Formats: sequence, structure tokens, C-alpha cells
Amino acid sequence: MQPGERTEVIQVDPARPDPAIIRGAAGLLRAGEVVVFPTETVYGLGADAFQPRALERIFAVKGRPFSDPLIVHIAVESALGDLTTSVPEAARLLAGAFWPGPLTLVLPRRPGVPLLVTAGLETVAIRMPRHPVALALIRELGSPVAAPSANRFMHVSPTTARHVAADLGGRVPLILDGGPCEVGVESTVLNLCSNPPTILRPGGVNLEALREVLPDVQPPRSSPGQIGDAGPAGAREIDERQGQLAPGQLPIHYAPAVPLLLFDGPSQDMRQAMLVEMRHQQAQGVSVGVLVADEDVPAFQGSGALVRSLGAAAEPGQIANNLYAGLRFLEEAQAQVILCRSFAGSGLGLAIRDRLLKAAGGKVIQVHGD
Ligand code: TXA
Ligand code: MG
Repeated sequence: MQPGERTEVIQVDPARPDPAIIRGAAGLLRAGEVVVFPTETVYGLGADAFQPRALERIFAVKGRPFSDPLIVHIAVESALGDLTTSVPEAARLLAGAFWPGPLTLVLPRRPGVPLLVTAGLETVAIRMPRHPVALALIRELGSPVAAPSANRFMHVSPTTARHVAADLGGRVPLILDGGPCEVGVESTVLNLCSNPPTILRPGGVNLEALREVLPDVQPPRSSPGQIGDAGPAGAREIDERQGQLAPGQLPIHYAPAVPLLLFDGPSQDMRQAMLVEMRHQQAQGVSVGVLVADEDVPAFQGSGALVRSLGAAAEPGQIANNLYAGLRFLEEAQAQVILCRSFAGSGLGLAIRDRLLKAAGGKVIQVHGD
């Protein structure tokens, strides 16, 4: 696309996309352009995985460093053969159980897969999304589609076309608007080149579900699911920055544009600590945003803070679904600091904790009752 050109946003039926729209989008990809499309996790910024020029456009549009590898999206399992030299039994089993869906498998790279995709690594990350628009686009192109999340580098991932336009408007020729994403956090990235297989990024498919298929799957190193458990009384900060770093897994990857303070501990105490911090900030004239669960809302009503609920604390599906929109909402409402509560770290909660921890720059304010 030429500088100054406009971004076209086309509404597309998420269940039964119009073939003419898909043909148009695939035509752009074939011509070496980038196209934004919905997936069940977050919106993706796609390019033909076998066109290095087009891949360069992804990095330019996002402002992403070349050291951060991309996920390649396929629509049929047989496409694995174009991308990897070996499909281990574990990959077959996992693909059978979770594809199409929010699981990305890291496998040995086949020579011929552009090194721009893999950031020079000898492994390649592959997933088959389950969103009908994504699948139709990949099929129509007839080539795998490399796609990172369609946000500017370091910003939170987009779960609506409006989020994409806010970040990439004027930088991409086409956004396919298929409505809000179903899962709301990115795919689980599982390394099948390590023994035992290890999660590099928790996401839409749970550790527990993976273990039902492959019992020796390991959680991410320094799993954020465990941060809430130990520690002396009183508030303290845990610095997780020394923890798990897969290639490109910067701890501040999902940072919102405003600082975020993450609180953890028993609900009552966590709320209390957030209220104290809120008043402290407000006394200094700071506009405070709070990101909470439905049951916390009454405690913050009338406080003067911008309050956004992510849903019922016991419903991780809701929380994940609303998480990125919540962060963007407070950012757009001009909060100068965001105070956020934690959520239980099992199931989808592991991915939620991971994203919140990253948004908080790796720090947790641990609150303990007495
Ligand atoms: O749900 C998703 O995965 C979304 C949608 C669009 O499919 N995509 C996404 O892409 O989140 P991105 O680029 O924002 O995140 C890709 C992640 C990064 O953490 C990257 O480091 C990791 O996958 N990754 C990619 N290739 C890898 C490789 N060869 N080895 C290890 N990690 C890899
Ligand atoms: Mg991303």
C-alpha cells in the first residue's frame, strides 16, 4: 500500500464469509500485501508465508523487530509437510484433538520456510485456526499465512476490528471485520522440539486439556499460575522478569500504554489494597482506572475512578474474552494508571495471569490477609 492510502474495512459474516470478499482478500495476499483477518483468538495481520517481501511488510506495519518469530497458519493438516521436516506422533495426536483451534505447535523448520518467519530459528510455529474467515482466506490463497496479532508492537492484541483500526489504520490496505473474537487471548504455543514438550506461552488451550492427550506436557517455566501462593505477610513485590523467556517472549510484550499495577491475594484484601492505592493516586491528582470482576464493582462505585469489569471472577472464559478490550477501554478513557486484580491461575486462568503479569511489567503487589 502507498503512503496516504486509506484502509478499507469490510464487514464479513463470521460464520459464512462471502466468497467474493475472501477472493479479494486472497488476491491482495497473493500480490504481496498484508491483510488483517479475524481468528477465534485475536485479529491477525497476515501475509503469504512464502513471500519474504510480504513478510517484511508485517514487521514494518507492526514496528516489530525481526528477532520475534511469526506463527504460520494453515487450513489443512497436510500443509504441515510444506513447513516442517517431521511430524512427530505427538503433533498428530494434538492436531487431532485441538485443530482447528487455539493451539500453536513448534516443530522443526523445513528448508525453504523463509527465515524471516522463524527469526532465523530452525523451528517453526504452526497453527490451524478455527475461525471460518481465517480458514476460508488460507484455503483461497492456497498457501500458509504468517500472522502475528494485528497490533502495533508492544501494544495489547486486538479482539475487534475497531482495535485493529486504532493501531494499524492507514498502514494496511484491508481489515476483514468479523466481529469480536471468541476466545480473546492468543493461542497456546507448545514447543514439540523440546523433551518433554513445554508450553512457551499459555493461551486458549489449557495445560490440563493438553495433558489429557500428552501427559508429560510441561507448564511455562516460572508459571505465573503459582505467584499467588507463597510469601510472608504484608504487601510485597515479586519480580518475575528473570523467568521464562521463549524467543520473542518479552516480559512487557502486552503492555498497555499506561502503567498497570497488578494486585494479588484474597479478594477482600486485594480490593482493600486497591482502594488504598486508588485514593493515594487520586490525592496526587492522578486519573485512576480499575480493572476488576463483577463482584468488586460495588466497592469502587462513586470512588471517582474509571471502573471496568471483566466479568464474573469465577468465569475465566468471560475474563479472557473481555481482557484486552478492558485494557484498551481504560487507556482510551485516559486513565493515567490502571489498578488490576488477579484471577485464579488454573485452566484459561493461566493465560490470563500471564497477560496481566506482562502488562504489569512482571511485577505483582502481593497482598496477604492476617
Ligand atoms: O492466537 C494467536 O496465536 C495469534 C493469532 C493471530 O493466530 N497470533 C499471535 O502471534 O499471537 P504473535 O506473533 O503475536 O505471537 C507469536 C508467538 C510469539 O510469542 C513468538 O515468540 C512465538 O509465538 N513463536 C513463533 N515462532 C516461534 C518459534 N519458532 N519458537 C518459539 N516461539 C515461537
Ligand atoms: Mg502478539
